[in-house]
Amino acid sequence: MKPFGKVHIAHLTFRFNALAGSYLSDDTLCNSHIEIKRVHTLMVCEEIKSLAEETGLSTEKARLAYIIALFHDIGRFRQFQQYRTFDDSRSVNHAALSVDIIKSDGFLEHIPETFHELIFQTILNHNIPFVDGYENSETELFTKLLRDADKLDILRVITSDDLRHVLEWEEKTDSYRVPDTILQRFRDHQIVTLDLVRSVNDLRMVRISWIFDINFSLTIQKIKERKYLEKLFGLIPGSERLNQIKTIIEDYIMTKKNEGDEYIFSNK
Ligand SMILES: [Fe+2]
Repeated sequence: MKPFGKVHIAHLTFRFNALAGSYLSDDTLCNSHIEIKRVHTLMVCEEIKSLAEETGLSTEKARLAYIIALFHDIGRFRQFQQYRTFDDSRSVNHAALSVDIIKSDGFLEHIPETFHELIFQTILNHNIPFVDGYENSETELFTKLLRDADKLDILRVITSDDLRHVLEWEEKTDSYRVPDTILQRFRDHQIVTLDLVRSVNDLRMVRISWIFDINFSLTIQKIKERKYLEKLFGLIPGSERLNQIKTIIEDYIMTKKNEGDEYIFSNK
């Protein structure tokens, strides 16, 4: 099979869906979690495809990006089946599990070995809070594409009234004071990390802070068009601190817009 050809891509997508399907059973809770990650993966594939196209990547690189997206969360199915959670801190590193499954199931059998390390490293990199160094420029590019595409689709899921309950815990909150530590992160234009999370609204602040870890201006554009941040803010009880954060974000987006995007049309 010709690597990165249309038939190869269709074959891998078929295998991905078959693997996801193999985890379905009469356990409805498990099924809904499997399905949410199956659809999430296919959506990340679409997001990465459009990012790759819009940034001007070659067809081969765009298809490699698609394959990386297709397998980035493949460990999620086994993770939920075994541990009944997507919380890595209470189970396993799902990215490392994805790499193990890719190897053991032979998903890269038609892809030249020179690409394997890049694929594995990119998948591992998608699951760390903040990447502060890359092995090479290829790993950097694909990691940035995957992290943006993944965030875009997680934002879709957690702002959807039908889906967000699967990934959030139930908690009634009439008021919310943004903790000092979280407010400071926004002031420093830094992402809020999961160790600071004590409540469901803290978790929403984590997702809002992702704006500081977006690599492509196209992604910021999509976040704005789809009103993901407005929807997230709408779920959090209002306060003066929250208004401060909204202003910080608006200013940040404006500055980024004026700075331009180093990647656009530079990766042909
Ligand atoms: Fe993902």
